[in-house]
Amino acid sequence: MVKVGILVGKHGRGSNMAALIRAMRVEPDLMTPRVVVAPSPSTPALELAADLGVATCVVPYAPPEDYGQRLLEALRGCDLVCLAGFMKLLPVEVIQAFPSRVLNIHPALLPRHGGQGMYGMRVHEAALAAGDTESGCTVHLVTERYDEGPILLQLRCPVLPDDTAESLAARVLELEHKAYPEALRSIALEVV
Ligand code: GRF
Repeated sequence: MVKVGILVGKHGRGSNMAALIRAMRVEPDLMTPRVVVAPSPSTPALELAADLGVATCVVPYAPPEDYGQRLLEALRGCDLVCLAGFMKLLPVEVIQAFPSRVLNIHPALLPRHGGQGMYGMRVHEAALAAGDTESGCTVHLVTERYDEGPILLQLRCPVLPDDTAESLAARVLELEHKAYPEALRSIALEVV
């Protein structure tokens, strides 16, 4: 059984985290959520994780010197790590401790609209500004650079003429909740 650690961002609402946890609950012999790690005790996703019966842990960003080591401690016993709204570059020691076993989801069709500073509504605003007729989400492996690891899965949706960043974000988020569990499942099948 593959034990999964989920890292959420400071203001993470945790909808992808919840989708992952729910999918793992369907196949407990294949994969199980071991811990949800957040950078702040006030991260909304922590309460949701606790409601879903998953252990939680707070690892603040500061001081940055031993952030990687503290994350590794929080992730002890995990086989695989999912970033779900985690905004920082993952410390290199964490990437090295989980080779090809750290996943992320991005709300666009990478390599379009990725990279440092491309998160939240900015991604959807960029898709609209570029006149894209199609968007979607990408699950990829995490490397030492933002949004550049090998792509595992992409799901696509249309960009409609009257879309706002918000309406597009909502359409993409629905796809995220399908894509991330599916990609996790296929990696879990490789690991198990
Ligand atoms: C999602 O749009 C995801 O693609 C990005 O951060 C957002 C997190 O949303 N990496 P949520 O906290 O999972 O609802």
